[in-house]
Amino acid sequence: ELGTYTHFMEKEIFEQPAALENTMRGRFSEDGSTAQFGGLNISAVDLRQVDRIHFLACGSAWHSCLVTEHLIEHFARVPVEVDYASEFRYRNMPLGNNTLFFTVSQSGETIDTLAALREAKRKGYKVLAVSNVVGSTIAREADGGVYQHVGPEIGVASTKAFTSQILLGAMLGLYLGRMRDMSFSDGVEIVKALKGAPDLVRRTLEQAPHIKAIAQRYAHFHDFLFLGRLSLFPVALEGALKLKEISYIHAEGYPAAEMKHGPIALISEKCPSVFFVSSGEMFHKVISSMQEIKARKGPIIAIATEACELPEGLADEVIRIPECHEAVLPVVATVPVQLLSYYIADALKRDVDKPRNLAKSVTVE
Ligand code: F6R
Repeated sequence: ELGTYTHFMEKEIFEQPAALENTMRGRFSEDGSTAQFGGLNISAVDLRQVDRIHFLACGSAWHSCLVTEHLIEHFARVPVEVDYASEFRYRNMPLGNNTLFFTVSQSGETIDTLAALREAKRKGYKVLAVSNVVGSTIAREADGGVYQHVGPEIGVASTKAFTSQILLGAMLGLYLGRMRDMSFSDGVEIVKALKGAPDLVRRTLEQAPHIKAIAQRYAHFHDFLFLGRLSLFPVALEGALKLKEISYIHAEGYPAAEMKHGPIALISEKCPSVFFVSSGEMFHKVISSMQEIKARKGPIIAIATEACELPEGLADEVIRIPECHEAVLPVVATVPVQLLSYYIADALKRDVDKPRNLAKSVTVE
């Protein structure tokens, strides 16, 4: 089953172009201006009434929801809430009438997510599910939903399931947006961008040898920060989670500008920061956050889109990713941190596919 790969995690990272194709297959309208989903089980008229969407998930799936929040709010202008399923089930928060719930779970068996689904249903809400496992408990108990179709994910650390969840988030944002104020031509542009995602991921995967060399130089550090803004902030959280769970290195993710409110105290030559840099409105702000780190001798690994001109000497390492549409940027930006974490863990001879203390699906509270 592993073929030429050493670990399932490695295989699943490299499978992502095909996995993303499978997530999208058959899910765009004939006129190429919107997404379509067969199993939502909710009429367009009812979906049009929804004025808030509440996402519930755990772990990487929760990070995917934070990216989705950004994409749905941006494309469809529908307010989105994201909760840890484990907290939602006990919080008893006031909820609106026209709220739609989504649970997101690769396995479809995570007990906290299942309990949160049941709690939302008990309150009389419609709950849809994003899941990868057909016929899983969460998929069966939900009122409808979307399957990811990325094939079995065997490595404990989520990789292809995560990028597929974000891609579906963008597709949901597109779908809801086209029911609201998004024009035909804006829809067409997003569909084109989404269809291009597998190829952009393929191009990013070509950076693997370069990222492996960086990983070998950085594997001895004990602390890392991951910093990004807007939709790349949750990708920073995901990068930190990947690194800590498989390499056992301490890592934290933050929105880049939050640095100065505390975490900057950690910075020294012993604590590298991984920065996500994209061209656009946040470029100069991210550069100035990098300068604050550099002034305190913090090593910097920049994951930067091709058009970003980084000031000479600012980053110690640069990993380039293609320029891409905002609908697919978080998917593409995830790939280098998956590879970085994988190669660091492998350099440290960790049990990459079965990290200590972790199980693939958490079926106890
Ligand atoms: C991290 C990871 C976990 C899962 C979490 C939810 O790499 O795999 O954080 O994302 O346990 O699992 P699912 O999606 O199966 O509900």
